[in-house]
Amino acid sequence: MKTKEELIRKVKKGLIPSHIAIIMDGNGRWAKLRGLSRIKGHQAGVEAVRGVVDTSGHLGIKYLTLYAFSTENWRRPEKEAKAVLTLIENTLIREINNLAKNNVIVHFIGSQKDLSKRFIKKINDSYQRTKNNTGLNLILAINYGGRNEILEAVEKMLQKQINKLTIDEFSNYLYTSKFPDPDLVIRTSGVIRLSNFLIWQTAYSELWFTDTLWPDFTPEEYMQAILDFQKRTRKFGGVK
Ligand code: IPE
Ligand code: IPE
Ligand code: MG
Repeated sequence: MKTKEELIRKVKKGLIPSHIAIIMDGNGRWAKLRGLSRIKGHQAGVEAVRGVVDTSGHLGIKYLTLYAFSTENWRRPEKEAKAVLTLIENTLIREINNLAKNNVIVHFIGSQKDLSKRFIKKINDSYQRTKNNTGLNLILAINYGGRNEILEAVEKMLQKQINKLTIDEFSNYLYTSKFPDPDLVIRTSGVIRLSNFLIWQTAYSELWFTDTLWPDFTPEEYMQAILDFQKRTRKFGGVK
């Protein structure tokens, strides 16, 4: 077993992905296994978030997108949906000084519809506070749905009476217009699907799955995913 520092050195010898996106899944099952409420599982997941954010900074990764709450997650009991959003808000309040100090820029992608004014103010403030940093771009996908994003993009185009576009031009209407497409998508908890996450942007992303439940996901396993990514041959339809 390599130590964290050894792993960091090993990963840095290879190609560092520019953008990693993570579907943080399995909080509910983690809690159930321990006889705890699902909300305790979400709380336990925060530590794993800190681990991947810190490690991404150490590795020099430029973009990290975290799927924190989907447009479909409103189908959960209201108490759980509200608790997840409150947890995100409180975590941002608690961590923003640290993030700012660590040169992180905090972005948000998702629909602002259905989010409270207070929540929207919090994410806007977090961006304003960190936008002049130059390190990791941490992109929080909150009330995010890929189909919704594409529909909103089409609505914006129609308003401008645009009816012909290239792929790059269309990408400019998405929430992710400022970011490159993910090189690597990681999903925890043994679930093998995208669940409406970045469905346009992941056309050529490498996918990596693990059975580990999100609260148990460590920086070491994160780096293992990146090492696996470094062994893959990306062809984008061509020949290598
Ligand atoms: C992921 O964990 C967190 C959110 C979707 C907010 P889940 O809550 O989906 O955990 P499982 O899938 O029920 O175990
Ligand atoms: C996807 O996980 C959403 C987030 C991780 C925020 P879900 O647990 O909601 O996905 P499904 O319902 O199993 O597809
Ligand atoms: Mg789940």
